[in-house]
Amino acid sequence: MGVKKIRVGMVGYQFMGKAHSHAYRDLPFYFDNPLKPELKVIAGRNEEAVKEAQGKMGWDSYETDWRKVIERDDIDVIDIVTPNHTHAEIAIAAAEAGKHIITEKPLALTVDEAKKMLNAVEKNGVKHMICHNYRFAPAVQYAKKLIEAGKIGRVYHYRANYLQDFIMDPNFPLVWRLKKEVSGTGALGDIGAHSIDLARFLIGEFKEVSGTMETFIKDRPIGEMTGGLNAKGDNEKMGEVTVDDAVAFLARFENGALGTFEATRFAGGNRNKNKFEINGEKGSIRWDMENMNNLEVYFADDEEGLQGFRLINCTEEVHPYVGAYWPPGHIIGYEHTFIHLIDEFFRGIANDKQPAPNFEDGVKNQIILEAVEKSSKEKRWIDIQ
Ligand SMILES: NC(=O)c1ccc[n+]([C@@H]2O[C@H](COP(=O)([O-])OP(=O)(O)OC[C@H]3O[C@@H](n4cnc5c(N)ncnc54)[C@H](O)[C@@H]3O)[C@@H](O)[C@H]2O)c1
Repeated sequence: MGVKKIRVGMVGYQFMGKAHSHAYRDLPFYFDNPLKPELKVIAGRNEEAVKEAQGKMGWDSYETDWRKVIERDDIDVIDIVTPNHTHAEIAIAAAEAGKHIITEKPLALTVDEAKKMLNAVEKNGVKHMICHNYRFAPAVQYAKKLIEAGKIGRVYHYRANYLQDFIMDPNFPLVWRLKKEVSGTGALGDIGAHSIDLARFLIGEFKEVSGTMETFIKDRPIGEMTGGLNAKGDNEKMGEVTVDDAVAFLARFENGALGTFEATRFAGGNRNKNKFEINGEKGSIRWDMENMNNLEVYFADDEEGLQGFRLINCTEEVHPYVGAYWPPGHIIGYEHTFIHLIDEFFRGIANDKQPAPNFEDGVKNQIILEAVEKSSKEKRWIDIQ
């Protein structure tokens, strides 16, 4: 009783297209959300490929021009899972058509573009969300609860590494992720943006940053992504890499904490090692996406002899979201973070309450991305306005 339909149109159909499609399909199976998604239409430029995706991922129809999806009056939500340079145009058009919007990260290519997107959703009164899905791992949500409850006290250090290695081979093709005009930045915006979001979510706002960026492989064979983090290239034609392969930066937070961040796609052996460690006056918390169900915690007031990090498997009823699935110890995975995010998004729409992270978070994130880039260029600390 009381469950209403919500009609979704998605633009893009590859890596994130699959993650989001799965989330819509599984959401009503596990969660009592007031809205039940109808997978109405999926859009892509290549008719054969989008038609195949439509059938495989369970969408009712397809379009080869995203504008048609936005024009349709049987669509309530636009989901943007295309490369970064397309987010602004699609989101602004969707907002003007009165659709609620979920977009992948980073919000845009520049702060200016990101602010225009925020302005469009606010002016048109639609709900908006940015897909920083790692916030929605139950262990991360629980870490937030521990910090809010004062369990680690004043925070001194926030230490984040996001380590991948999928472009280490110099023959890995020059895909959209390696072109500034399409992606904005490299490791910084692709994965560092997630670390920035987790830091903001867990301990609060940035005050200033100082960073440096490096591009190790300057030229690569031209190519394209083929799903997941795979790609294919043409070994005859080469092109220039115009974004960072790796970035490291320091941060000061408004609350006085010191942050150290590293994001790289050249950390051999690390496939998706998205990690943080937080050290406070009363304890420490650390998390690693590759063991995403676990949280390691240390409390300074543990009795003598028992002091040290302890491992919590965050699969109990008390841990956010996870009670919807299996008995304790029966772990969940990457795809579930997207289900939780969509659950939050639809609750926001149903209850007329703006969910988070949203375009405002996207703008704040973009300001930090731009500041790190500026700092690297100008070799100095940059204030976060
Ligand atoms: N939340 C996460 O953890 C996460 C992970 C990966 C990617 N992302 C983000 O998701 C977005 C998509 O990344 P992906 O890995 O799915 O990319 P992808 O290359 O796998 O898929 C991109 C899709 O967009 C389509 N597309 C490309 N250019 C287009 C254009 N000009 N107009 C319309 N469609 C176009 C492609 O055909 C494809 O379907 C990016 O913004 C990326 O940063 C987020």
